[in-house]
Amino acid sequence: MASKIVGLGMYAPPKELTNLDLEKLVDTNDAWITERTGILTRHIAEPRTANSDLCVEAARMALDDAGVDPADLDIVVVGTLTPDMPFPATACFLQAKIGATRAYGMDLSAACSGFIYSLSVADALIRAGRGKKALVVGSEILSSVVDYTDRSTCILFGDGAGAAVLSECPEGDGVLSCHLHSDGNLWKLIYCPGGGTLHPYSPEMVEQKLGFIRMAGNETFKHAVLRMVEVSREALDRNGVGIDDVKLFIPHQANLRIIQVVGKRLGIPEERVFVNLERYGNTSAASIPIALAEAKAQGRFAAGDLVLVVAFGGGLTWASALMRM
Ligand code: ACO
Repeated sequence: MASKIVGLGMYAPPKELTNLDLEKLVDTNDAWITERTGILTRHIAEPRTANSDLCVEAARMALDDAGVDPADLDIVVVGTLTPDMPFPATACFLQAKIGATRAYGMDLSAACSGFIYSLSVADALIRAGRGKKALVVGSEILSSVVDYTDRSTCILFGDGAGAAVLSECPEGDGVLSCHLHSDGNLWKLIYCPGGGTLHPYSPEMVEQKLGFIRMAGNETFKHAVLRMVEVSREALDRNGVGIDDVKLFIPHQANLRIIQVVGKRLGIPEERVFVNLERYGNTSAASIPIALAEAKAQGRFAAGDLVLVVAFGGGLTWASALMRM
């Protein structure tokens, strides 16, 4: 057996942080942000919101869309770099909040590749017979780890959640293949130093801002382009299809320029490349499932179409999945 996405959902907190709002926080301007990133606004959760509460909203929508009862779920996987707490897993909070009483839950840390990694794990578990139905969520409250005095990062990130319900299906349908990669030698390109064993919570952590994202934007940009093109081709080659067979290409929503270069190198016309980052910014693990849910709602793909998703992020990690919807 294989696995297939049978329901999709998304949620973004109502409060927005626009480019004009950011002009008041740091030395930046709307024109620079728009031109260099394509982002116009992002959604921000209220302080001290539980990430699992965002997951709940997206999950309920996906379960409704699938017509699946939470009690029928076997597996809950949450991809995130901003969990409710170091432990227990955000997936366990989510499980309790939605009443997925029979399921087992786990979190997965792969930064912006977190959703595709989680999808791959859930798909593999279903193929291995460790369950028939899975809830796969990518959810982030990045505003909790963003330094709003650092103009090179605070303009990029937003909060949100996306969810997919996976169900057993015959081989040849649904998730056709997943491709996961990482290179830990490049960890310094994007990371958050504090809050783990290396820099536990301490006055030093606050003074030195160790709890915030640090990023080498330029270098990350170059790797993102190379790796997203490479891993997209890997998915196409594995399945013996070309880019022309793909109805919709959904790249991680980090920067419009990255998306445009990747689309061009793959030779896919703009109208088959999904973009919504102007409204959400980079929501890390939530980016792909939010895009999938919106694309479905907009009728951008139909049953039987091929959809290619691709992401990259801290680790570095990068990943793709080709799916028959
Ligand atoms: N407003 C105005 N000027 C700015 C801003 C800003 N917000 N940020 C930087 N600048 C300035 C810089 O200081 C620099 O000025 P200088 O030339 O006088 O030194 C100039 O703009 C150009 O800076 P660059 O960093 O070269 O700008 P670039 O075009 O590379 O854009 C950006 C920066 C948007 C961060 C881009 O590099 C990028 O998107 N990189 C990819 C990041 C990413 O996708 N990360 C995803 C992984 S996320 C995860 O895993 C959680």
